[in-house]
Amino acid sequence: MLNPKTIHQLNEILGSDRLKKNVPLASHTTFGIGGPAQLFYKAKTSEELIKVIKAARELKIPYFILAGGSNILVANQGFTGLVIKVESQKIKIKGYKIIAEAGTLLAKVVKAAQEHSLSGLECCIGIPGTVGGAVAGNAGAKNQWISQCIKSVTILDKSGKIINLKKDNCQFCYRTSCFKDNPSKIILEAIFELKRENLKIIKEKTKQFLKARGNQPKEKSAGSIFKNPANDSAGRLIDAADLKGKRVEEAQISLQHANFIINLGKAKAKDVLALIKLVQNKVKEKFGVKLELEIKLIGFKKKK
Ligand code: EPU
Repeated sequence: MLNPKTIHQLNEILGSDRLKKNVPLASHTTFGIGGPAQLFYKAKTSEELIKVIKAARELKIPYFILAGGSNILVANQGFTGLVIKVESQKIKIKGYKIIAEAGTLLAKVVKAAQEHSLSGLECCIGIPGTVGGAVAGNAGAKNQWISQCIKSVTILDKSGKIINLKKDNCQFCYRTSCFKDNPSKIILEAIFELKRENLKIIKEKTKQFLKARGNQPKEKSAGSIFKNPANDSAGRLIDAADLKGKRVEEAQISLQHANFIINLGKAKAKDVLALIKLVQNKVKEKFGVKLELEIKLIGFKKKK
Protein backbone atom coordinates (compact mmCIF):
# COMPACT_ATOMS: atom_id res chain seq x y z
CA MET A 1 0.00 0.00 0.00
CA LEU A 2 1.17 3.54 -0.65
CA ASN A 3 1.76 5.72 2.33
CA PRO A 4 -0.71 8.58 2.90
CA LYS A 5 2.03 11.22 2.67
CA THR A 6 2.93 10.11 -0.87
CA ILE A 7 -0.74 10.13 -1.87
CA HIS A 8 -1.09 13.61 -0.42
CA GLN A 9 1.91 14.83 -2.44
CA LEU A 10 0.43 13.38 -5.63
CA ASN A 11 -2.90 15.03 -4.81
CA GLU A 12 -1.11 18.37 -4.55
CA ILE A 13 0.47 17.95 -7.98
CA LEU A 14 -2.54 16.58 -9.87
CA GLY A 15 -5.45 18.12 -7.96
CA SER A 16 -7.67 16.15 -5.60
CA ASP A 17 -10.64 16.51 -7.96
CA ARG A 18 -8.68 14.71 -10.70
CA LEU A 19 -6.91 12.00 -8.72
CA LYS A 20 -9.49 9.32 -8.03
CA LYS A 21 -9.26 6.58 -5.43
CA ASN A 22 -10.41 2.94 -5.60
CA VAL A 23 -11.66 3.02 -9.16
CA PRO A 24 -12.96 -0.35 -10.45
CA LEU A 25 -11.00 -1.31 -13.55
CA ALA A 26 -13.46 -3.85 -15.02
CA SER A 27 -15.29 -1.15 -16.97
CA HIS A 28 -11.99 0.09 -18.38
CA THR A 29 -11.16 -3.28 -19.96
CA THR A 30 -12.77 -5.09 -22.90
CA PHE A 31 -12.71 -8.30 -20.81
CA GLY A 32 -14.96 -6.61 -18.24
CA ILE A 33 -12.81 -8.09 -15.47
CA GLY A 34 -10.67 -6.49 -12.77
CA GLY A 35 -10.60 -5.04 -9.26
CA PRO A 36 -9.90 -1.45 -8.23
CA ALA A 37 -6.97 0.81 -8.94
CA GLN A 38 -5.80 2.31 -5.66
CA LEU A 39 -5.23 5.60 -7.53
CA PHE A 40 -6.58 6.52 -10.95
CA TYR A 41 -5.87 9.52 -13.16
CA LYS A 42 -7.17 10.37 -16.63
CA ALA A 43 -4.52 12.21 -18.64
CA LYS A 44 -6.59 14.23 -21.09
CA THR A 45 -3.70 15.88 -22.91
CA SER A 46 -0.06 15.01 -23.64
CA GLU A 47 0.96 17.70 -21.15
CA GLU A 48 -1.06 15.99 -18.42
CA LEU A 49 0.44 12.65 -19.38
CA ILE A 50 3.95 14.07 -19.03
CA LYS A 51 3.06 15.70 -15.72
CA VAL A 52 1.62 12.54 -14.15
CA ILE A 53 4.48 10.30 -15.31
CA LYS A 54 7.06 12.71 -13.94
CA ALA A 55 5.20 12.91 -10.63
CA ALA A 56 4.86 9.13 -10.30
CA ARG A 57 8.54 8.66 -11.08
CA GLU A 58 9.62 11.32 -8.63
CA LEU A 59 7.42 10.00 -5.82
CA LYS A 60 8.38 6.40 -6.70
CA ILE A 61 4.76 5.35 -7.07
CA PRO A 62 4.25 2.11 -9.03
CA TYR A 63 2.23 3.03 -12.08
CA PHE A 64 0.58 1.36 -14.97
CA ILE A 65 -0.42 2.95 -18.27
CA LEU A 66 -3.90 1.99 -19.35
CA ALA A 67 -4.68 2.51 -23.01
CA GLY A 68 -7.85 1.03 -24.51
CA GLY A 69 -7.88 -1.86 -22.03
CA SER A 70 -8.26 -4.31 -24.90
CA ASN A 71 -5.18 -6.41 -24.31
CA ILE A 72 -5.05 -6.88 -20.55
CA LEU A 73 -6.28 -9.09 -17.75
CA VAL A 74 -6.55 -7.29 -14.41
CA ALA A 75 -6.56 -9.30 -11.18
CA ASN A 76 -9.70 -9.08 -9.05
CA GLN A 77 -7.67 -7.74 -6.14
CA GLY A 78 -6.87 -4.77 -8.40
CA PHE A 79 -3.71 -2.71 -8.73
CA THR A 80 -1.81 -1.21 -5.82
CA GLY A 81 -0.47 2.03 -7.20
CA LEU A 82 -1.48 4.54 -9.84
CA VAL A 83 -3.33 3.67 -13.04
CA ILE A 84 -2.87 6.32 -15.71
CA LYS A 85 -5.61 6.27 -18.32
CA VAL A 86 -4.33 7.90 -21.51
CA GLU A 87 -7.03 10.06 -23.07
CA SER A 88 -4.97 12.55 -25.09
CA GLN A 89 -6.82 12.54 -28.40
CA LYS A 90 -5.60 15.28 -30.72
CA ILE A 91 -5.34 14.27 -34.33
CA LYS A 92 -3.91 16.31 -37.23
CA ILE A 93 -3.77 15.58 -40.93
CA LYS A 94 -0.92 17.17 -42.85
CA GLY A 95 -0.72 16.11 -46.48
CA TYR A 96 -0.02 12.38 -46.45
CA LYS A 97 0.68 12.34 -42.73
CA ILE A 98 -1.59 11.73 -39.75
CA ILE A 99 -0.30 12.80 -36.36
CA ALA A 100 -2.29 11.26 -33.52
CA GLU A 101 -1.87 11.49 -29.77
CA ALA A 102 -1.47 8.27 -27.81
CA GLY A 103 -5.01 8.16 -26.44
CA THR A 104 -6.73 8.57 -29.83
CA LEU A 105 -8.94 5.61 -30.65
CA LEU A 106 -7.39 3.63 -33.47
CA ALA A 107 -10.82 3.51 -35.13
CA LYS A 108 -10.80 7.31 -35.34
CA VAL A 109 -7.43 7.31 -37.14
CA VAL A 110 -8.54 4.57 -39.55
CA LYS A 111 -11.69 6.61 -40.32
CA ALA A 112 -9.73 9.84 -40.81
CA ALA A 113 -7.37 8.07 -43.24
CA GLN A 114 -10.29 6.81 -45.26
CA GLU A 115 -11.99 10.20 -45.30
CA HIS A 116 -8.82 11.72 -46.76
CA SER A 117 -8.28 8.90 -49.28
CA LEU A 118 -5.11 7.85 -47.49
CA SER A 119 -4.07 4.22 -47.61
CA GLY A 120 -1.87 2.17 -45.24
CA LEU A 121 -4.00 1.70 -42.14
CA GLU A 122 -6.59 -0.67 -43.58
CA CYS A 123 -5.17 -3.60 -41.59
CA CYS A 124 -6.21 -1.80 -38.39
CA ILE A 125 -9.92 -1.87 -39.16
CA GLY A 126 -11.90 -3.39 -36.32
CA ILE A 127 -8.98 -3.40 -33.87
CA PRO A 128 -10.13 -1.98 -30.54
CA GLY A 129 -7.95 0.28 -28.40
CA THR A 130 -5.84 3.36 -28.82
CA VAL A 131 -2.91 4.53 -30.93
CA GLY A 132 -0.48 4.10 -28.01
CA GLY A 133 -1.53 0.52 -27.31
CA ALA A 134 -1.62 -0.42 -31.00
CA VAL A 135 1.83 1.05 -31.68
CA ALA A 136 3.40 -0.55 -28.59
CA GLY A 137 1.96 -3.95 -29.52
CA ASN A 138 2.48 -3.46 -33.28
CA ALA A 139 -1.15 -4.38 -33.95
CA GLY A 140 -2.17 -5.75 -37.30
CA ALA A 141 -3.84 -8.48 -39.26
CA LYS A 142 -3.02 -10.88 -42.09
CA ASN A 143 0.73 -10.21 -42.03
CA GLN A 144 0.34 -6.45 -42.14
CA TRP A 145 1.26 -4.27 -39.21
CA ILE A 146 0.61 -0.75 -38.04
CA SER A 147 4.40 -0.23 -38.01
CA GLN A 148 4.49 -0.44 -41.81
CA CYS A 149 3.03 3.05 -42.06
CA ILE A 150 4.72 4.62 -39.04
CA LYS A 151 7.17 7.41 -39.74
CA SER A 152 8.14 8.18 -36.15
CA VAL A 153 6.95 8.03 -32.56
CA THR A 154 7.29 10.84 -30.03
CA ILE A 155 8.00 9.64 -26.51
CA LEU A 156 8.85 10.75 -23.00
CA ASP A 157 12.12 9.01 -22.15
CA LYS A 158 13.41 7.91 -18.77
CA SER A 159 15.22 11.18 -18.11
CA GLY A 160 12.03 13.16 -18.77
CA LYS A 161 13.03 14.38 -22.24
CA ILE A 162 10.64 14.41 -25.17
CA ILE A 163 12.25 12.72 -28.13
CA ASN A 164 11.20 11.68 -31.58
CA LEU A 165 12.18 8.14 -32.54
CA LYS A 166 12.35 7.28 -36.22
CA LYS A 167 10.62 4.03 -37.14
CA ASP A 168 13.93 2.14 -37.52
CA ASN A 169 14.74 2.83 -33.87
CA CYS A 170 11.42 1.51 -32.55
CA GLN A 171 12.36 -2.21 -32.77
CA PHE A 172 9.06 -3.24 -34.29
CA CYS A 173 8.55 -7.00 -34.51
CA TYR A 174 5.55 -9.33 -34.43
CA ARG A 175 3.24 -7.90 -31.72
CA THR A 176 6.00 -5.95 -30.02
CA SER A 177 8.25 -2.86 -30.07
CA CYS A 178 10.68 -1.10 -27.75
CA PHE A 179 7.65 0.56 -26.10
CA LYS A 180 5.93 -2.65 -25.02
CA ASP A 181 5.96 -3.01 -21.22
CA ASN A 182 8.64 -0.35 -21.08
CA PRO A 183 7.96 2.41 -18.55
CA SER A 184 11.09 4.27 -19.66
CA LYS A 185 9.61 4.99 -23.11
CA ILE A 186 6.13 6.48 -22.85
CA ILE A 187 4.38 7.03 -26.18
CA LEU A 188 3.01 10.57 -26.55
CA GLU A 189 2.09 10.56 -30.23
CA ALA A 190 2.64 8.66 -33.45
CA ILE A 191 3.19 10.00 -36.95
CA PHE A 192 1.79 7.86 -39.74
CA GLU A 193 2.95 8.30 -43.32
CA LEU A 194 0.29 7.12 -45.75
CA LYS A 195 -0.22 7.01 -49.51
CA ARG A 196 -2.89 8.72 -51.57
CA GLU A 197 -5.17 6.06 -53.01
CA ASN A 198 -8.45 5.71 -54.82
CA LEU A 199 -11.22 5.48 -52.20
CA LYS A 200 -12.77 2.45 -53.88
CA ILE A 201 -9.49 0.54 -53.49
CA ILE A 202 -9.17 1.58 -49.84
CA LYS A 203 -12.73 0.42 -49.16
CA GLU A 204 -12.10 -2.92 -50.88
CA LYS A 205 -8.90 -3.52 -48.85
CA THR A 206 -10.72 -2.55 -45.65
CA LYS A 207 -13.47 -5.03 -46.47
CA GLN A 208 -10.91 -7.83 -46.88
CA PHE A 209 -9.37 -7.10 -43.47
CA LEU A 210 -12.80 -6.96 -41.85
CA LYS A 211 -13.59 -10.32 -43.42
CA ALA A 212 -10.45 -11.80 -41.85
CA ARG A 213 -11.89 -10.87 -38.45
CA GLY A 214 -15.23 -12.49 -39.20
CA ASN A 215 -14.38 -15.64 -37.20
CA GLN A 216 -13.76 -13.66 -34.00
CA PRO A 217 -16.26 -13.69 -31.14
CA LYS A 218 -18.35 -10.65 -30.24
CA GLU A 219 -18.53 -11.46 -26.52
CA LYS A 220 -16.32 -9.67 -23.98
CA SER A 221 -12.70 -10.75 -24.48
CA ALA A 222 -9.18 -9.40 -24.67
CA GLY A 223 -8.61 -10.33 -28.32
CA SER A 224 -6.04 -13.03 -29.03
CA ILE A 225 -4.84 -14.47 -25.72
CA PHE A 226 -1.62 -15.98 -27.11
CA LYS A 227 0.85 -14.86 -29.74
CA ASN A 228 1.04 -17.08 -32.77
CA PRO A 229 4.10 -19.35 -32.57
CA ALA A 230 6.46 -19.16 -35.56
CA ASN A 231 4.83 -20.56 -38.70
CA ASP A 232 1.71 -21.72 -36.88
CA SER A 233 -1.42 -20.38 -35.27
CA ALA A 234 -2.31 -20.48 -31.58
CA GLY A 235 -5.99 -20.78 -32.53
CA ARG A 236 -5.34 -23.82 -34.71
CA LEU A 237 -3.27 -25.55 -32.01
CA ILE A 238 -5.81 -24.92 -29.22
CA ASP A 239 -8.60 -26.12 -31.48
CA ALA A 240 -6.62 -29.26 -32.40
CA ALA A 241 -6.08 -29.92 -28.68
CA ASP A 242 -9.89 -30.12 -28.43
CA LEU A 243 -10.20 -27.23 -26.04
CA LYS A 244 -12.91 -25.16 -27.74
CA GLY A 245 -15.81 -24.53 -25.39
CA LYS A 246 -13.80 -25.54 -22.30
CA ARG A 247 -15.00 -23.56 -19.27
CA VAL A 248 -13.74 -22.56 -15.86
CA GLU A 249 -16.69 -20.96 -14.09
CA GLU A 250 -17.76 -18.09 -16.40
CA ALA A 251 -14.63 -17.96 -18.51
CA GLN A 252 -14.77 -19.99 -21.69
CA ILE A 253 -12.55 -20.79 -24.68
CA SER A 254 -14.59 -19.39 -27.53
CA LEU A 255 -16.41 -21.90 -29.70
CA GLN A 256 -15.88 -19.52 -32.58
CA HIS A 257 -12.12 -18.94 -32.32
CA ALA A 258 -9.95 -20.97 -29.96
CA ASN A 259 -7.42 -18.18 -29.30
CA PHE A 260 -10.10 -16.09 -27.60
CA ILE A 261 -11.27 -16.53 -24.01
CA ILE A 262 -14.67 -14.97 -23.48
CA ASN A 263 -16.29 -13.65 -20.33
CA LEU A 264 -19.75 -15.19 -20.12
CA GLY A 265 -20.81 -12.61 -17.54
CA LYS A 266 -19.15 -12.80 -14.17
CA ALA A 267 -15.81 -14.39 -15.01
CA LYS A 268 -13.01 -13.76 -12.52
CA ALA A 269 -9.40 -13.14 -13.48
CA LYS A 270 -8.40 -16.36 -11.71
CA ASP A 271 -10.81 -18.35 -13.91
CA VAL A 272 -9.23 -16.88 -17.04
CA LEU A 273 -5.79 -17.62 -15.63
CA ALA A 274 -6.81 -21.24 -14.95
CA LEU A 275 -7.89 -21.59 -18.60
CA ILE A 276 -4.62 -20.03 -19.77
CA LYS A 277 -2.60 -22.57 -17.76
CA LEU A 278 -4.77 -25.43 -19.00
CA VAL A 279 -4.26 -24.38 -22.63
CA GLN A 280 -0.50 -23.93 -22.19
CA ASN A 281 -0.15 -27.36 -20.55
CA LYS A 282 -2.32 -29.21 -23.07
CA VAL A 283 -0.73 -27.62 -26.14
CA LYS A 284 2.76 -28.27 -24.76
CA GLU A 285 1.88 -31.88 -23.97
CA LYS A 286 0.22 -32.58 -27.33
CA PHE A 287 2.36 -30.58 -29.75
CA GLY A 288 5.48 -29.62 -27.78
CA VAL A 289 4.75 -25.92 -28.40
CA LYS A 290 5.01 -23.31 -25.65
CA LEU A 291 2.31 -20.69 -26.17
CA GLU A 292 3.30 -17.20 -25.06
CA LEU A 293 0.79 -14.69 -23.78
CA GLU A 294 -0.10 -11.76 -26.01
CA ILE A 295 -2.15 -10.14 -23.27
CA LYS A 296 -0.58 -8.40 -20.29
CA LEU A 297 -1.36 -9.47 -16.72
CA ILE A 298 -1.89 -6.66 -14.22
CA GLY A 299 -2.00 -6.89 -10.44
CA PHE A 300 -0.99 -10.55 -10.16
CA LYS A 301 1.86 -11.73 -7.98
CA LYS A 302 5.16 -11.90 -9.89
CA LYS A 303 5.59 -15.66 -10.33
CA LYS A 304 2.51 -15.88 -12.60
N1 EPU B 1 -8.00 -21.75 -36.65
C1 EPU B 1 -8.52 -22.96 -36.26
N2 EPU B 1 -9.37 -22.96 -35.18
C2 EPU B 1 -9.71 -21.84 -34.51
C3 EPU B 1 -9.16 -20.61 -34.91
C4 EPU B 1 -8.31 -20.57 -36.00
O1 EPU B 1 -8.22 -24.00 -36.83
O2 EPU B 1 -10.47 -21.94 -33.55
C5 EPU B 1 -7.12 -21.71 -37.84
C6 EPU B 1 -7.79 -20.95 -38.99
O3 EPU B 1 -8.63 -21.80 -39.74
C7 EPU B 1 -6.61 -20.45 -39.78
C8 EPU B 1 -5.53 -20.24 -38.72
O4 EPU B 1 -5.94 -20.96 -37.56
O5 EPU B 1 -6.16 -21.42 -40.66
C9 EPU B 1 -5.35 -18.74 -38.37
O6 EPU B 1 -6.55 -18.22 -37.86
P1 EPU B 1 -7.04 -16.72 -38.14
O7 EPU B 1 -7.09 -16.47 -39.61
O8 EPU B 1 -8.29 -16.50 -37.38
O9 EPU B 1 -5.88 -15.80 -37.62
P2 EPU B 1 -5.12 -15.79 -36.24
O10 EPU B 1 -3.71 -16.13 -36.55
O11 EPU B 1 -5.80 -16.61 -35.21
C10 EPU B 1 -4.37 -13.29 -36.32
C11 EPU B 1 -4.19 -12.26 -35.23
C12 EPU B 1 -5.49 -11.51 -34.99
C13 EPU B 1 -5.97 -10.88 -36.29
C14 EPU B 1 -6.15 -11.98 -37.33
C15 EPU B 1 -6.62 -11.39 -38.65
C16 EPU B 1 -2.52 -13.05 -33.65
C17 EPU B 1 -2.26 -13.74 -32.36
N3 EPU B 1 -3.79 -12.92 -33.99
O12 EPU B 1 -5.26 -14.28 -35.81
O13 EPU B 1 -5.20 -10.46 -34.08
O14 EPU B 1 -7.19 -10.20 -36.10
O15 EPU B 1 -4.90 -12.69 -37.51
O16 EPU B 1 -6.09 -11.94 -39.74
O17 EPU B 1 -1.56 -12.66 -34.32
C18 EPU B 1 -5.13 -9.91 -31.75
O18 EPU B 1 -3.90 -9.85 -31.87
O19 EPU B 1 -5.70 -9.65 -30.67
C19 EPU B 1 -5.92 -10.31 -32.91
C20 EPU B 1 -7.22 -10.50 -32.83
